[in-house]
Amino acid sequence: LCPKLIMNNNQPPLAIIGGSGLDVFDGLENPIEKPPINTPFGQPSAGLVYGKLSGSDVVFLARHGKDHQYAPHRVNYRANIHALASLGVRKVIAVAAVGGITEVMENRVLVVPDQLIDYTSGRLSSFSDRPDTVVQHVDFSYPFTRELSQRILDAASRQNIVVQDGGIYGVTEGPRLETAAEISRMEKDGCDLVGMTLMPEAVLAREAGLDYAALALVVNRAAGKSQELITMDMIKSNLQEGMSQVRSILCGVMAMSVRVCD
Ligand code: HPA
Repeated sequence: LCPKLIMNNNQPPLAIIGGSGLDVFDGLENPIEKPPINTPFGQPSAGLVYGKLSGSDVVFLARHGKDHQYAPHRVNYRANIHALASLGVRKVIAVAAVGGITEVMENRVLVVPDQLIDYTSGRLSSFSDRPDTVVQHVDFSYPFTRELSQRILDAASRQNIVVQDGGIYGVTEGPRLETAAEISRMEKDGCDLVGMTLMPEAVLAREAGLDYAALALVVNRAAGKSQELITMDMIKSNLQEGMSQVRSILCGVMAMSVRVCD
């Protein structure tokens, strides 16, 4: 562990991986951006930003890069998770913008997913893919850490922000959006949400032994689920409105973490 990262209360900091709409965490106190570090898997998407939220230490990483330069299928997920783990992070909250499939998943609904289905193809999704590494068949029955998910839900309810507890997140390859038929198939599979980023991030976190939970914001109805075309303008306006609630919830999580972090 990197001693510099064991800060307040002798606890390793929690990490937030910000997605679309959260490439920079406005409101982070005393942010210090480190230059991107090298990992055995290459460079993470951006330099890690150390700072404080509600008085607790936090590390922020922009999943798509500071300037949103990495599309979901080009993100170096392995370098991102490796960088966080090697610096002593033990818990990761991932923020993700998603399309809503089932009826309740309307624009700007917030969700803490409890399951996922991986429809991606060809992404590098394991740390053990070299002849000199031991193959890991990690248990991934429950991809999200319940205690960490509960902390997000508790922080939201303390602020009277409504967040859906649970939902199945289907991960597509992108960067194109889906066809209506693909979404219809995903709905039959049980997916409530569609996004492009939580895999392989979640399984790499599991391989690295990190707790991992996600907070998803619906920014559009998925393909074929509304009469409107899905436009970037629509997505951006929902992102802007929803991300302020995401930020408040994360501040709440950090305010609680002083007391409940193990
Ligand atoms: N599909 C996949 N990923 C997404 C979507 C979508 O409709 N909206 C935001 N991320």
